[in-house]
Amino acid sequence: MIPIIPIAVAPAPTVDSGSGLTAPPPLALYVHWPWCVKKCPYCDFNSHENRTAIDDAAYLAALIADLEAALPQIWNRPVTSIFIGGGTPSLMRAETADALLAAIRMRVPLHPGAEITLEANPGTAEAAKFAAFREAGVNRLSIGVQSFDDAKLAALGRIHDSAEAQRAIDMALNNFDRVNLDLMYALPQQTLAEAERDIATAIGTGRQARRQQKLALPAQPQLLDLRRLPGHRRRRAQQALEPRNHLA
Ligand SMILES: C[S@@+](CC[C@H](N)C(=O)[O-])C[C@H]1O[C@@H](n2cnc3c(N)ncnc32)[C@H](O)[C@@H]1O
Ligand code: SF4
Repeated sequence: MIPIIPIAVAPAPTVDSGSGLTAPPPLALYVHWPWCVKKCPYCDFNSHENRTAIDDAAYLAALIADLEAALPQIWNRPVTSIFIGGGTPSLMRAETADALLAAIRMRVPLHPGAEITLEANPGTAEAAKFAAFREAGVNRLSIGVQSFDDAKLAALGRIHDSAEAQRAIDMALNNFDRVNLDLMYALPQQTLAEAERDIATAIGTGRQARRQQKLALPAQPQLLDLRRLPGHRRRRAQQALEPRNHLA
């Protein structure tokens, strides 16, 4: 399924007083890849362990058919971002990503500066594949690190350890200007100091964007709510989360 989400909340088409033409509001496109190497026990996303070879061609054809069915509703509206999420879309063959983005470009007006993100699991990171995703047009990689603590990663049932996460980050930095790291907090037996150490390690990798999500069992993920932290902890967390503009 390709949900197509208006970027702004129901803006009425604006009228250009000069020409009298209306400007359709832009769209963001989300593309779902539902397969993973292994289903993590905590995850309630629409994601499934793939036990047989994935038929990329059949899935791509289904995605294109879905997009074409939506075209009458979105005619002529510019797409300013694409997010290829999962599941683990880094399992996708690079040729599939290339064909997917070409198919989207042929059907919708993709803004030349559009952000195109793909989610990757560190256990599936390959330098050549990251380079091929970049070549296909992906310009932002989002890596599911979760924690830099091997014991926590093992408790979560992750397929990678901290060293593999670091290697995946290095590979991503060699290929992409924009890299996001996902971290989760409120992990079993995790102290606030441990969660802060994960944030500090993520900052130390040189990344600007970090997404912190509280481990949600079994509810949906929530965003870190700084307002719930006591004053001095909140200030420390805010400082840690501030983007460092001098970093790439
Ligand atoms: C759909 S996953 C994509 C990344 C990739 N599949 C991976 O796990 O490395 C997106 C992110 O959702 C978050 N997530 C998954 N299950 C969660 C849960 N139960 N609570 C909080 N965050 C969760 C993780 O941070 C994960 O990186
Ligand atoms: S957290 Fe990521 S790798 Fe784990 S099951 Fe969910 S989507 Fe798949």
